[in-house]
Amino acid sequence: MAEAAPPERTGDSSGRLSHPGVTSSEDGHEPVPTSIVLVGMMGAGKSAVGRRLARRLGWDLLDSDRQVEALTGRTVPEIWTADGEAAFRLLESQVLTDALESTTPKVVAAAGGVVLDEGNRRLLRLHRPVVWLRAPVETLIVRVRRGDGRPLLRDDPAGAMTRLEAERRPFYQEVADLIVDVDNEHPADQVTERIVQQLGLSALAQ
Ligand code: S3P
Repeated sequence: MAEAAPPERTGDSSGRLSHPGVTSSEDGHEPVPTSIVLVGMMGAGKSAVGRRLARRLGWDLLDSDRQVEALTGRTVPEIWTADGEAAFRLLESQVLTDALESTTPKVVAAAGGVVLDEGNRRLLRLHRPVVWLRAPVETLIVRVRRGDGRPLLRDDPAGAMTRLEAERRPFYQEVADLIVDVDNEHPADQVTERIVQQLGLSALAQ
């Protein structure tokens, strides 16, 4: 079960979305969203699930890191090495802002660190639905064992992952409307199906 959410945002694993100031449609169901944002740690499966979810809904996929790379013509490690983390975070925030401003239906696979910035969290709290793919830290460590081009995991992947996961957990909790637990027993297809069901989007899904 989900942990207690802060008062301004109710995210739970039942799929119920509750957000002050947002009205549901007349039949009492949630309005159809224009975009779904996936958040979570590196290795949680945001890109894999995002691809499947976008395909299921017939929507575009916007993968944050890929978008940063397309905009700059450089890889994430190249940006990180040449310009530093702060420069990368600015690009990441810009990509998030642009994605949420656009009204094209899409699934946004947000980069793991997007919740570090207070402004990004404010933006995410205003958006719905935000889905947190929550994985036990042990699962994340197994999945990102080799670092896989992620600068923060270069030297000590397990140690860094443990520290970052503890730091960021409250931030994911803060922005999430829906929490979906992921592990190595349930493939991305099943996680995708759960999201479709819990957001009540089966009628849209192909
Ligand atoms: C990061 C996550 C990565 C990438 C960069 C930093 C983070 O994206 O943006 O390596 O700080 O969590 P994914 O979450 O898509 O792996």
